[in-house]
Amino acid sequence: AIERTLSIIKPDATRRNLTGKIAAKFEEAGLRIVAQKRILLTRAQAEKFYEVHAARPFFGELTDFMASGPVVVQVLEGEGAVLKNREVMGATNPKDAAPGTIRAEFAESVGENSVHGSDAPETAAQEIAFFFSGLELVG
Ligand code: CMP
Repeated sequence: AIERTLSIIKPDATRRNLTGKIAAKFEEAGLRIVAQKRILLTRAQAEKFYEVHAARPFFGELTDFMASGPVVVQVLEGEGAVLKNREVMGATNPKDAAPGTIRAEFAESVGENSVHGSDAPETAAQEIAFFFSGLELVG
């Protein structure tokens, strides 16, 4: 089925001017960027976005990092977009990421891992609504 998923290009990647290279990986995989904006999250917004991880030991590090510089939030659309995006990103820890994936090529560590992608269609809908209004999605 045609799906939409939320993608975030994280501060480690925007800082190194990798936005275009990462976007190209998505497009080359057949995903269409139907919404995109560059924003600077507050710590409170990062905490809200990642609230499911609030009890994890790395929550403070994660939310500090996500508020440490610009992010580019995107909605990607395509056949099986949630899974396809996860394949293009590679494993969360770059040490485990398959060659050619975004995290294998660009990520610096498990925390500073260049990209986020929704993990399921239900979370994708929630995460898209967190950042975008319906008017901002142009398929
Ligand atoms: P993401 O897909 O954005 O969702 C949660 C994030 O937590 C994950 O990517 C990682 O970047 C981050 N994360 C996971 N494990 C650790 C860890 N051990 N230390 C720091 N950050 C982590």
